[in-house]
Amino acid sequence: MTMKTKKDKASWYPLLVITLLLSSLWSCQPSPQSPPRERISINDNWRFYKYENIEKTDNLIYDVRPEITDTNDDKQADSKPTEAVEVEATQETLKAWIMPTGNRFIKDPTKHYTRPKGNPGKDFPFVQSDFDDQDWQAVELPHDWAIEEPFYAGWDTPVGGGMGRLPSPGVAWYRRTLDISTADQGKSIFLDIDGAMSYAMVWINGQLAGGWPYGYSSWRLDLTPYLHYGGPNQLAIRIDNPAHSSRWYPGGGIYRNVWLVKTEPIHIAQWGTSIRTKDVSASQATILLDVTIDHDGNENQNIAIQTDIFVLNEDGSIGDKTVAAFAKKAISMTAQNSSTIQSTLTLDNPRLWGPPPTQSPNRYVAITTLTSGGQTIDEYRTPFGIRAISYDADKGFFVNGEKVYLKGVNQHHDLGALGAAFNARAAERQLEMLKELGCNAIRMAHNPPAPELLEMTDRMGFLVIDEMYDCWARKKTPHDFHLIFPEWHEQDLRALVRRDRNHPSIILWSTGNEVGEQYTGEEGAKIAMRLREIVNEEDPTRPTSASMNYAKPGMPLPETMEVLNLNYQGEGIRNAPAYAHLKGINTSPLYPRFHQAFPDKVIISSENAAALSSRGTYLFPVNEGISAPISDGLGGDPKTGYVSSYELYTADFGSSADKVFATIDQHPYVAGGFVWSGWDYLGEPTPYYLSRSSYFGLIDLAGFKKDRFYLYQSRWRPELPMAHILPHWNWSDRLGKITPVHVFTSGDEAELFLNGESLGRKKKGAYEYRLRWDDVLYEPGELKVIAYRDGKEWAEETIKTTDSPTQLTLTTDRQSILGDGKDLAFVTVAVTDQNGLTVPNAMNDITFSIEGPGEIVATDNGDPTSLVAFPSLERKAFNGVALAIVQPNKGQAGTITIKAVSSGLKNAEVTIEVIQ
Ligand code: GAL
Repeated sequence: MTMKTKKDKASWYPLLVITLLLSSLWSCQPSPQSPPRERISINDNWRFYKYENIEKTDNLIYDVRPEITDTNDDKQADSKPTEAVEVEATQETLKAWIMPTGNRFIKDPTKHYTRPKGNPGKDFPFVQSDFDDQDWQAVELPHDWAIEEPFYAGWDTPVGGGMGRLPSPGVAWYRRTLDISTADQGKSIFLDIDGAMSYAMVWINGQLAGGWPYGYSSWRLDLTPYLHYGGPNQLAIRIDNPAHSSRWYPGGGIYRNVWLVKTEPIHIAQWGTSIRTKDVSASQATILLDVTIDHDGNENQNIAIQTDIFVLNEDGSIGDKTVAAFAKKAISMTAQNSSTIQSTLTLDNPRLWGPPPTQSPNRYVAITTLTSGGQTIDEYRTPFGIRAISYDADKGFFVNGEKVYLKGVNQHHDLGALGAAFNARAAERQLEMLKELGCNAIRMAHNPPAPELLEMTDRMGFLVIDEMYDCWARKKTPHDFHLIFPEWHEQDLRALVRRDRNHPSIILWSTGNEVGEQYTGEEGAKIAMRLREIVNEEDPTRPTSASMNYAKPGMPLPETMEVLNLNYQGEGIRNAPAYAHLKGINTSPLYPRFHQAFPDKVIISSENAAALSSRGTYLFPVNEGISAPISDGLGGDPKTGYVSSYELYTADFGSSADKVFATIDQHPYVAGGFVWSGWDYLGEPTPYYLSRSSYFGLIDLAGFKKDRFYLYQSRWRPELPMAHILPHWNWSDRLGKITPVHVFTSGDEAELFLNGESLGRKKKGAYEYRLRWDDVLYEPGELKVIAYRDGKEWAEETIKTTDSPTQLTLTTDRQSILGDGKDLAFVTVAVTDQNGLTVPNAMNDITFSIEGPGEIVATDNGDPTSLVAFPSLERKAFNGVALAIVQPNKGQAGTITIKAVSSGLKNAEVTIEVIQ
């Protein structure tokens, strides 16, 4: 890390003049020969080996697990979680050596774990430095071991639809050497793993150093005691991802970034800064800073700490003027100890952080420097934002005094065809499309996201619910993380809050989702309270919640919540006539009951809708009401596995968007809602478990917009003139048949024309969100809608019956990408007719090829039923389109040419520049 030179100090800032004078005498430039802190990416040069058979692996296990007796993979998501099964250890386990890794996050020092004597696994070949791993696969991290594999098809498969039909379960090893020079002697050296799925255990030079079981946590291991200086050190990491461990596709392996961090023995601790802002206004803000410093060395030492604040620009660059500085402080550090230094300052005219479009996500960065005898010994950067958030049970949610209605989506962590392996550009693309939708809030369902994702939500101004678990001590699947909850919840939770607390985008902590403890009365409430207290201790500035789909007023669990996160209960569950025959949770619309029972607690609809569709597929007849559970013949076709895109059909416990909007609008105290889900994701293919991916998204797995995208856009971006017609107009088999036409528009009224003839002008009634012409008789030609707002023309759209396919067209989301081996271009192929119109029901086979310095890493078409492996260069169009994901080679530049061919159609080509 290099230091910015601090010229042109902010002398306009009168209160700080004295401090600044002091600090200008003191140089915080690192000495050129030894950077005070190094954070080195060690994503490259790994060797990987996965056992073929999950039953036949080594016996270096973290813990014994209960036998799997329930393999049912297609349960309704709201089935009641059940009690954990007790198991007795039948063999030696390594847990006792792993537990100490979490000590820092256990508040009570008497509860800290001591590493037992002995060194399990020391004789196992994979941990030895002289083991020859040249036959193992060479991989780069982040790595998801399952995503490129063939899908399992059929009913009785090792991995079913729920977990995405890919071999994410399994046991595998990653090996790599670390060259540690003699100059590093005396330093503290850490391994930082942003996420490994799951039960990671780490050996360094044959010594079991520690690990972390929860696959979504970020964690650190101190390698210092085990290192050799002046040569290679052997790292070996065992990952064990159990079968039946998740309700969705978790991915497998070291799927987030990995770092080697080198510091002086006295250094700022892991996630060691906490920045809070209070008394925030346009003219002033108070900034409170806590810095925790570790002293790993053996001699007491005097040091000084100084923190300067700079503007952090949108592109990540740092402003060249200090905007404020905390007073420099002298500290005496005791050997083998930590201390936390608290400081405060007042900043005039702060540039506040807030969500667009009405506010701007302005950020700052605090640069903290430790010096000893005039030498810089550490430098640590903390990006942050200055903003005030508040909740009002009657009025909703506020940022900097402005009410901000939560227009939210739930998002899983996978990146579609790229799997769980974190990729910044793929994640950014997801967020960009959510922006286009008008979404301003994201619930990270149901686990901590990659740290880089929160950097993006800060930068782009999203509001985030950061969530910990999908289950606590009761289980949803036999081997989910309920197994570790009793021993790890404190460490996981404190680690999450310390990692994420400085992100301005985070507005709420969620400790869980639809947990089984909703059903266990006081016992469940006690757990909820304990989790809430942990979070409150770590972060007194934001409230906590846990999403409830069952617990109601009168039950103990909601009492423990600071904010009421309701899943589906607001609009009612299986309660409307179309749902009355279904078994399962059944509740009337509960907003009023919650609001009356808890007049001081704000209500958020943390999950709603769970509506379903296959993009571009329309099935007849069309439901007459506004919401219906999917059933064979009404909205769903079990033979093809498709769900109709009339956007009226839902999971058994769900409600259509129209019903959700109406209920929420009738209860204006609700702070907003989060639709299930923003994007489609791998696994949980309700209602057709032979498929691989979900039907819930407003955007499909490949990133193509479903019709529902426009329904939400019409609501969330009322100032954007838009109108969207569905279905498509290519129905050669429906001549003269009733083919309903629905329109989503931000206008309030619209007139529909078929081949120039008006089919009538319709106006939205109270609590209506679509305009429907349900008795249109199909004839080919042109459908046109003119939308009005307040009686004036507002927007229009036209769709046409196309001719048959004649050609392919290719477009890329970006013309030029970076040759860093990580950047991506998303290339869409459309099957078009002679006039260039996309043929909306085209399913042609397409073959992609590439020339130049890059690779097609995956293809997809957004069809949940497609079991074609993601790396395949052959892919059918699904309802007119397909996608190829292109990644440049590392360190190269030049022109990439992508070609798409399809028998009987004219080929297409597109070029992308790779720059260095
Ligand atoms: C909810 C659950 C989500 C997802 C959704 C759709 O009950 O919280 O994780 O499963 O249903 O099925």
